[in-house]
Amino acid sequence: MIHCVLPAGIRIMNQSREVSSTQQDVHPRLDELLSRHLANEWSQPLHPPTIEAFQALEERVDCLRDHIVLDSGCGTGASTRRLARALPDCVVIGVDKSVNRLSRSGAEPYPRREGNAVFVRAELTTFWRLALRAGWRVHRHYLLYPNPWPKPGHLQRRWHAHPVFPDMLRLGGRLEMRCNWDIYALEFAHGVNRVLGVNVRPGSPPDEPVMSPFERKYRNSGHRIYSVVVSCGSSGVK
Ligand SMILES: C[S@@+](CC[C@H](N)C(=O)[O-])C[C@H]1O[C@@H](n2cnc3c(N)ncnc32)[C@H](O)[C@@H]1O
Repeated sequence: MIHCVLPAGIRIMNQSREVSSTQQDVHPRLDELLSRHLANEWSQPLHPPTIEAFQALEERVDCLRDHIVLDSGCGTGASTRRLARALPDCVVIGVDKSVNRLSRSGAEPYPRREGNAVFVRAELTTFWRLALRAGWRVHRHYLLYPNPWPKPGHLQRRWHAHPVFPDMLRLGGRLEMRCNWDIYALEFAHGVNRVLGVNVRPGSPPDEPVMSPFERKYRNSGHRIYSVVVSCGSSGVK
């Protein structure tokens, strides 16, 4: 395995960089942000194209009756397809805002249904709020390798420090987040514990075939992979 230290302190292992940050522990402002988000409903206006995408999705999927699995930030959709094969009784919805990534799994228009997999181009911060308002309760929810935003000043861009976090947890189901940065996993678990009143810790995902392109890249690079898994009771948010 090749390790080298760049001037900026970035370590490169087999081409893929490990996350490098000046932050060495759970961010000291995380609790303050979680308290604020729990006390105030997030009122940022909804993203109009996502409203349209959501309406179109509801015409294709009976989201209140089907067993829904969400693959949030699905990238190219490879994990969505893999989950759809593994869970044939569920409808697996892959959501991503990037048309570049999504188009690698097939051309527009979105939402595009392929058997029990559906690909949607949408902004998650609006998508999750619309799903909650529409009464969805998901069966499973995957957040695979969210952007880590390692600069301490970007804390609020990490999902667990974002104002939409309590609503994401209110969607219920078995939630699994995977990442390759120990601090992100610790913070995510901390956020989940604080909001749901549970006590989960980061672990390692099972030794199964790779779930997604980012997982393949990190595994091939020898990075340690962390997962946080929690059962979100639908009324569990404090
Ligand atoms: C690091 S990639 C991981 C992709 C895929 N899950 C994987 O493991 O290969 C993160 C993905 O999240 C998507 N994403 C980030 N923020 C988003 C948002 N607010 N709404 C929708 N997608 C988002 C990005 O477009 C990107 O495809």
